[in-house]
Amino acid sequence: MLRSHHCGALNENHSNQEVTLAGWVQKVRNKGFIVWTDLRDRYGITQLIFDEERTPKTVFKKSLDLGREDVIQIKGKVIERESKNSNMATGGIEILVKELTVLNAAKTPPFTIENQTDGGDELRMQYRYLDLRRAPIRDNLVFRHKVTMAVRNFLSQADFIDVETPYLIKSTPEGARDFVVPSRMNSGQFYALPQSPQTFKQLLMVAGFDKYFQIVKCFRDEDLRADRQPEFTQIDCEMTFVEQEDVLKQFEAMIKHLLIEIKDVKLDDFPRMTYSEAIQRYGNDKPDIRFGMTFGELNALAQNKGFNVFDSQELVVGIAVPGGISMTRKEIDAWIEWVKRPQIGSKGLVWVKCNEDGSYKSSVDKFFNAEDLAQWAKATGAQAGDLIFVMAGAKHSTRTQLSALRMEIGEQMGLRKADEFAALWVTDFPLLEWDEQTQRYHAMHHPFTSPKKEDLELLDSDPSKVMANAYDLVLNGNEIGGGSIRIHDTTLQEKMFGLLGFSEKEAQEQFGFLMDAFQYGAPPHGGIALGLDRLVAILGGSETIRDFIAFPKNNSGRDVMIDAPASLETAQLEELYLKSLPKDPS
Ligand code: AMO
Repeated sequence: MLRSHHCGALNENHSNQEVTLAGWVQKVRNKGFIVWTDLRDRYGITQLIFDEERTPKTVFKKSLDLGREDVIQIKGKVIERESKNSNMATGGIEILVKELTVLNAAKTPPFTIENQTDGGDELRMQYRYLDLRRAPIRDNLVFRHKVTMAVRNFLSQADFIDVETPYLIKSTPEGARDFVVPSRMNSGQFYALPQSPQTFKQLLMVAGFDKYFQIVKCFRDEDLRADRQPEFTQIDCEMTFVEQEDVLKQFEAMIKHLLIEIKDVKLDDFPRMTYSEAIQRYGNDKPDIRFGMTFGELNALAQNKGFNVFDSQELVVGIAVPGGISMTRKEIDAWIEWVKRPQIGSKGLVWVKCNEDGSYKSSVDKFFNAEDLAQWAKATGAQAGDLIFVMAGAKHSTRTQLSALRMEIGEQMGLRKADEFAALWVTDFPLLEWDEQTQRYHAMHHPFTSPKKEDLELLDSDPSKVMANAYDLVLNGNEIGGGSIRIHDTTLQEKMFGLLGFSEKEAQEQFGFLMDAFQYGAPPHGGIALGLDRLVAILGGSETIRDFIAFPKNNSGRDVMIDAPASLETAQLEELYLKSLPKDPS
């Protein structure tokens, strides 16, 4: 053994013991006659002392050459420190070193391996293995491990079986582009990497597995954001002989269990909200319900009163900012500028101050009297002391813009607390959405989602009105999961593909295997997939999933450490039947 203890293990109870430790040199403090060194490993930091008087001469001399991140092994005696550090597990002791072996000297790292590092994002990603040595990032991965284990144990105890499904498959449409892999053995043909194991898990239900789960990598070629990576991990689940209620109950129990086990937080039963209610009250389908500021629609109260800006618009809608009357004109103007930025794209904001004495002051006093404004206050739930912001425009974009404003104000007012958790189910999604660009319907969830029984007839007459047996799980304003009760009947599945614009031939070519399987005794089934990266990040108090992934990609989808993606040599391209591409300009 290269060590008798790890670097987080020793305390006063070990005093006078001879120990062997190994690790990385975190810090060296050379006082001339004494050298203190912090030795680090995954478990913690232990202080070493090389003392001119008490440490053998040759060892003391060697200690003068130690540098940051050298890998060393030491033998020595545990002694109590003169000045103890109660903030550290090992803060009561230090090791008086007698032997020192440098196992591997290190170059000076390009940034400091400290909790607060001087390294910028790109540099830390390039040397991710050094970044991973830093306690905050390492702790995030240990945290992820805990969540993953708790999920595995919970699902295994609930009779779910972990089954692996293939990565080299055919396209599974989840709304993004596929990553494709050329086949050397099948000229001109390609595999697609799974956007999710959707069709396979359904086939496992046809095969009688009853309850399946897999903690599985999924691949989606889409624009990246803080909560999106091109490869990410799902907790993918499917159940047989279930209705929507059974799935919601099962996974609500899992999330409650995780919150207790991981955060010691007990959640009440999750509220349910229909998709249309979420859109109307919060402007999006993943509302953060930790705080209010719900939308009040003002069309009936604010239009046709002579204010042109409102009159011609599809929607006039407002939110009440609690205590907002304390905002200065400058602060209000800054919010108006904020919503006008191209990222938000609003034309502006109207504001109303609801004064403590019951009077109102607004930016539209010329057009609206106190009675009008009192009605706005009622509709937006504004109390005395609040400020109402009002937006007007096309329904969809205005809701999206006001939702962004609500979230930003919530963030700045400290209403989005990282240690507070609020989950909800969003249900009753439309089955289809119309895409103006392609002049086609798209499946709002995916093409395997079943329509609500009572809406089946509408499939022929007015498909846009059909509701789906689909649900999303939302935690703290993030979509952490989505699922549905599936179609298990060939005829209905064929009809669905037809509505999505597939010809019979195309549907057969792409999904014939699934529709065939439905003819051999497919049971009713449904399931859900949770985004593990998002779940872990939120439980860990963040919305940036990169910090909880060991080797993430940057915002351009690159791994800057291994420098991928990269171009291929002509010979390899030819072997894959790919035409030679122009050399990568970089
Ligand atoms: P869906 O597409 O909703 O459903 O995905 C499920 C969950 O996966 C997470 N997620 C992502 N996380 C990080 N980066 C991404 N690029 C990314 N894309 C999605 C989200 C999301 O809620 N097969 C269906 C599930 C089912 O019907 O059972 C599916 O994949 O948290």
